[in-house]
Amino acid sequence: MKYQSQKIAYLFFALSVLLLVLQIIYGFIMGLGRLGYDEWFHDFIPFNTARATHTNLLVVWLLSGFMGAAYYIIPEESQRELVSVPLAKIQFYSFALVGVVAVVGYHFNWWEGRKFLEIPRPLDYLVVINVLTFLGLILATLYKGKQRTTTAMVLTMGLVFAALLYLPGMVWFESQTLDSYFRWWVVHLWVEGVWELIMGGILAYLLIKLTGVDREVIEKWLYVIIGLTFISGILGTGHHYYFIGAPRYWLIIGGIFSALEPLAFLGMALFAFSMYRKGGKKHPNTIALYWTLGCAITSFAGAGLLGMAHTLPSVNLWTHGTLVTAMHGHLAFWGAYGMLVLAMISYAMPMMTGRKLYQNSRGQIAFWTANIGMIGMTTALAAAGVAQVYLERRMGMEFMDAQNEISVHFLIMLASASLFAFGIVLYIIDFFKYGRPVDTPSQQVEDSFIAVSE
Ligand code: HEM
Ligand code: HEM
Ligand SMILES: [Fe+2]
Repeated sequence: MKYQSQKIAYLFFALSVLLLVLQIIYGFIMGLGRLGYDEWFHDFIPFNTARATHTNLLVVWLLSGFMGAAYYIIPEESQRELVSVPLAKIQFYSFALVGVVAVVGYHFNWWEGRKFLEIPRPLDYLVVINVLTFLGLILATLYKGKQRTTTAMVLTMGLVFAALLYLPGMVWFESQTLDSYFRWWVVHLWVEGVWELIMGGILAYLLIKLTGVDREVIEKWLYVIIGLTFISGILGTGHHYYFIGAPRYWLIIGGIFSALEPLAFLGMALFAFSMYRKGGKKHPNTIALYWTLGCAITSFAGAGLLGMAHTLPSVNLWTHGTLVTAMHGHLAFWGAYGMLVLAMISYAMPMMTGRKLYQNSRGQIAFWTANIGMIGMTTALAAAGVAQVYLERRMGMEFMDAQNEISVHFLIMLASASLFAFGIVLYIIDFFKYGRPVDTPSQQVEDSFIAVSE
């Protein structure tokens, strides 16, 4: 860590892991509901409340992680301190406040809104002000900095576009079709568009640090990835327009372009692995490297392959809105963005605190149990989803009868989720063992590349 102001990232990372824990708790609440064990809390936390809380917490902990990553990366890449740490602190506390109020509000039915974006209008305005403050700080730092690297520019572009795309989600329509139509500008163009820039930027930064490969080589890949993302992802939005009342031409446009989307994720995976193999040096922080490479490969599996599995209109006709979607949603979000945030935290914590907890095995166990658990959850959801499609949509069984038939799959789902949660608990133990950032973390951590080639 070269600049003191990078330490502000810690607050965002801490919020991020705390909200991840809450998200998991709400996952279990739904899982218990699926199995019928929810009598004692159902009145206060019905399934729809738990679901909204679960998915919105996901978005908030990821955004918190992205902001932390930006506060850590941008000063270092532009070679100057963040322009204002006090303002960044205010931005942090107000962000946390909006998050907490939103979550509490779901439980009192204060508001309803669009899936994944269920916060009420007054809070929306606060979010806008908050994000503008955040972007202002990042852009000013970048502008006043000594250099503007491709990595920093891509990351910042991703953040700016993500903020702009939040706006169409705030417009209200009477028509269900129009409402859905614009909701996807946010939800789809985020995860299959501009968030991929954020991902590319953070991965590039981590790979530069962890593999020692030249920046020029790593940043060349970024252009390719951005190109693939935009060529496929923008018109790929059409895969959400098949059956919502939008014009028919979306069947063909959405089908073709969304089928190309996995290429961007494949690019990301090839990128990470070839840089890893090319790297002549090894950084001692192997845990951060695991999460980085894990992110690249799991995002290809969850977003690329499992997205492809239901993206063609002829398949989506049957699977739309079933647990097949939930299967893909879990592995894609986890692989691409969850693991990305955990990779960034794993890299930054030793730098900020001067401690080298990556030398013990807890981090490795956390990595493997969390990921094996998530793969188990995905598999259970896949089995449940396919059975649901078959029973409900091919055999014509009533919705709730079909749900009853498949509830058995949630036993495996919850067993796997327990393994996943165990891994996350270990990860968080490490996080808190690192303690808080210190003023002068030992430079040893920074400069301790081990040469492997000679
Ligand atoms: C990291 C990237 C991705 C993430 C985080 C992600 C996540 C999700 C989530 C959460 C949903 C459910 C949304 C909702 O119903 O509100 C969804 C739906 C969908 N995703 Fe993805 N996805 C990603 C990439 C992809 C890719 C690359 C493809 C195609 C190749 C794809 C294909 C689909 C399709 C077709 C649906 C609609 C399912 C339905 O009709 O119910 N996704 N995705
Ligand atoms: C470990 C404990 C977890 C459990 C037990 C769990 C369980 C569930 C359940 C039961 C649903 C509702 C599915 C339905 O509609 O019936 C759901 C939705 C969802 N969860 Fe989780 N989850 C967990 C963790 C996570 C994590 C870590 C992520 C992301 C990184 C995640 C992302 C999602 C998403 C995106 C949806 C919405 C999917 C859709 O729109 O179809 N969950 N979860
Ligand atoms: Fe999409």
